[in-house]
Amino acid sequence: MKLLEEKIRRDGVVKTEDILKVDSFLNHQMDVALFEEMAKEWKRLFRDCPINKILTIEASGIGIACLAGREFGVPVVFAKKSKTSNLAGGMYKTQIQSFTHGKTYDVIVSEKFLSAEDHVLIIDDFLANGCAVNGLMELVHSAGGTVEGVGIAIEKGFQGGGDALREKGIRVESLAILESMDPKTGNMVFRPQPQQS
Ligand code: G4P
Repeated sequence: MKLLEEKIRRDGVVKTEDILKVDSFLNHQMDVALFEEMAKEWKRLFRDCPINKILTIEASGIGIACLAGREFGVPVVFAKKSKTSNLAGGMYKTQIQSFTHGKTYDVIVSEKFLSAEDHVLIIDDFLANGCAVNGLMELVHSAGGTVEGVGIAIEKGFQGGGDALREKGIRVESLAILESMDPKTGNMVFRPQPQQS
């Protein structure tokens, strides 16, 4: 998606070879007009899928997922990172390892909000190694639901998570895919995308 790539080039900051800072428009301050355009693009890309729910994970997925929820006209559920190991019943649970943050989280969704009738679009801000997406897919499958696809704002293609999911037959639509980043020059290389608008 041209608009997002331009925004990343203009306002993104390459911190290291594998960390991109986008806190001025995506995961701290939020450019809601941009989120709206991203939501429209996911709606266009997944127009043939019978999506009736959007699932994301706190915190940074929530903003983009809300705009997507408006666009699709479906409820948005966010998985919670639980701080207590003593979890109450009535929850679907999994663990997600974050390489970026160097932590493993218990992640939960109430059984009230995911079911076997659900056809779910998973939305998140970043896709790196794919741990968050794999964990969210596990939660949907625990409920007997169907994962229709995965919508990502920024995929770091060089970390391999997105392509590993695609190889397993999962539909992953990332609006910008970074192939490399150079912290010295700030240079970024994006994967060409056929569906760019
Ligand atoms: P993975 O899920 O694809 O395996 O990725 P990883 O564990 O490496 O990433 C976990 C967290 O780090 C996610 O945030 C993700 O949004 C964030 N992240 C990954 N790469 C980058 C990056 O290059 N820049 C920035 N700014 N963030 C990155 P999270 O655990 O969901 O936490 P939150 O920030 O949403 O609260």
